Amino acid sequence: MDLPSTTRITVKPTGASLAADVIGIDLTQPMDEATFKQIEDAWYQYLVLRFRDQHLDDPRFLAFARRFGELDKAPIHAGKDVVNPYPEITVMSNIKVDGKAIGNLGHYEAEWHTDMSYNELTPIGSLLYSIEVPPAGGNTGFANMYEAYDTLPAELKRTIVSLQCRHDSSRNSAGELRKGFKDISDPREAPGAIHPLIRTHPATRRNALYLGRRRNAYIIGLPLDESEDLLNKLWAHASQEKFAWYQEWKVGDLIMWDNRCAMHRRDAFDPESRRLMHRTQIKGDKPFFDPATVAA
Ligand code: SIN
Repeated sequence: MDLPSTTRITVKPTGASLAADVIGIDLTQPMDEATFKQIEDAWYQYLVLRFRDQHLDDPRFLAFARRFGELDKAPIHAGKDVVNPYPEITVMSNIKVDGKAIGNLGHYEAEWHTDMSYNELTPIGSLLYSIEVPPAGGNTGFANMYEAYDTLPAELKRTIVSLQCRHDSSRNSAGELRKGFKDISDPREAPGAIHPLIRTHPATRRNALYLGRRRNAYIIGLPLDESEDLLNKLWAHASQEKFAWYQEWKVGDLIMWDNRCAMHRRDAFDPESRRLMHRTQIKGDKPFFDPATVAA
């Protein structure tokens, strides 16, 4: 019988503010609890994990992702007419078949964001597996929001400690208006969930700056100009390169990231080249801030 056995894995940090490679594991093989725990601990420590040279089909990709929790159904996307036998998989691609996009986001740049922060319950993590990659471009950047929070000036930390932000649901991370939404110009009128600006991670108990995305964000209760000034300050701080690491994709890379403490973005790429990724995400929880994590 094919029993899961403990695999001796190596976790090799990238040396940047976040992310590590997990080496010595074939994710098509059964995995025991001890190995899973090593991976989960590494995920909590490094926020982003990369597994290179994997050979995953959709069922095995989903089986690995399910170790971390129940998975979300794929949101309605550009490829919705394409028959997808795995409803938890979202296709991220610029490829067109018979003139129709098979997936999401095309070849465009995606701005810094956290997945689906405009919902009440936000996915705790996302996994992206590369099947076809362009010869250049399309790199995915990740940024460490624990460090962004930790390095804020003390006065700014005090200012945001009890503030909440509304996260606009009307546009996607490529800036496209979602179907059925009104084009709004005043952030105070944006639809979307309200979350604390400081998010406490339920497992690590560390605090992270929780910004979602910049466009149409609004800090509840502030005059619009003050909300804009404060958000500009926070975004200028959080999007510094020193908090970031960039994934240059190879076929067979699986990346997983923690949406509670990391943001991500993607570079545009040549529309004539092909990029195909399968993505799934782990069902969400409600972002919260625990004041007990902050010294009085
Ligand atoms: C995303 O999840 O925002 C896109 C990431 C990517 O396509 O690299």
